[in-house]
Amino acid sequence: MLGNILLWLVLLLVTLGLGWLALRAFRARNALVKWVGGLLAALLTLVIGLVTVVALLGLFKLYMPIGSPVKDLTIEITPERVARGEHLANTFCVGCHSPTGDLPMIGGVDLGADLGMPLGQFISVNLTPAGPLAGWSDGEVLRILREGAAPDGRRLIMMGAARARYMSDEDLYSVIAYLRSQAPVENDTPQPPDSPTLLAGILAALGMVPIEPPVTGSISAPPMGATAEYGAYVVSFQDCVVCHGVNLDGNPSSPIVPAGPDLAVVKGWTAEQFLTTFRTGVDPSGHQLSEAMPWRQIARLDDVELTAVYEYLISLP
Ligand code: HEC
Ligand code: HEC
Repeated sequence: MLGNILLWLVLLLVTLGLGWLALRAFRARNALVKWVGGLLAALLTLVIGLVTVVALLGLFKLYMPIGSPVKDLTIEITPERVARGEHLANTFCVGCHSPTGDLPMIGGVDLGADLGMPLGQFISVNLTPAGPLAGWSDGEVLRILREGAAPDGRRLIMMGAARARYMSDEDLYSVIAYLRSQAPVENDTPQPPDSPTLLAGILAALGMVPIEPPVTGSISAPPMGATAEYGAYVVSFQDCVVCHGVNLDGNPSSPIVPAGPDLAVVKGWTAEQFLTTFRTGVDPSGHQLSEAMPWRQIARLDDVELTAVYEYLISLP
């Protein structure tokens, strides 16, 4: 944080320095210095000045404490919830919280490493009871998941981008019940708090980092089944729209994610072909899906869930 504030001060000084040069140039007697030098310095002042203002907004976005009051909540741990929570973790959270992509979720993965831009270090946390969660209440963990706000109010950048917050209340309770009932697994990989760069702040201020708004109300899921309605629910919290675009038409709103193609292509497939694509990683045209598409993890959705996603995709206009 200190480094980013110092960098911002340097930007401010450069802007002021350029502005001063522009004024000096405009007062010069020599016409060339006056107009060419003056206009050039003025233009640079404007550009760097604009970057400085956006960067200031970015600093607020990165470091202003967030989060609504923590709910007083005790989640009952039942075998059904633990099983459902394990399934949700295994089909979603593992993508970022496990170095192997499998349970247990011991964290330590730097998600900033493969963004293709120097946006900083974002290391996922050990979610087994050997990690920091053991010291937090159910309400605090729920707020992390729904709002991306750490117990101390820090904005958790990656949890703010993940769409876990759109899971139903009951599904999130199941996830938390599962987190609580795992066996603790130690992980020696350091897991320091986020350290975003000023560039990340600038992109966040410009709306180019996918930060989801907080969810404070309650969400209920439609009945589980191979229906378009249930598929819409699965797609609402799986990160499909982050990479494939809000309309799943291949236009993601952020330049920092691997862009996925227009999913209208699925309309030409049967449900069986859709399931086979995920189970094998090869689509009906024989194309092997790259690892940029988290197909191995999505393939762990059961047949009912995947068929529901298929029904939803073919129902889109
Ligand atoms: C897009 C990657 C990603 C996904 C998906 C994801 N996480 Fe995270 N999570 C992170 C990272 C990275 C951190 C470290 C802080 C940050 O940058 O948000 C984190 C932090 C956390 C924290 C602790 C925050 C703290 O203050 O230390 C909890 C709890 C958590 N995640 C739970 C989950 C659960 C449960 C799921 C699945 C429902 C999940 N996460 C899915 C990347 C992810
Ligand atoms: C991290 C980004 C990312 C996420 C999340 C993601 N995708 Fe993809 N997806 C991609 C990329 C990139 C490709 C292209 C892979 C290739 O062609 O090698 C792709 C390809 C696909 C294809 C194959 C299209 C074809 O013509 O072969 C389907 C189907 C698909 N995604 C569906 C989904 C669904 C459904 C979800 C959510 C459950 C999802 N994707 C989540 C990035 C993503």
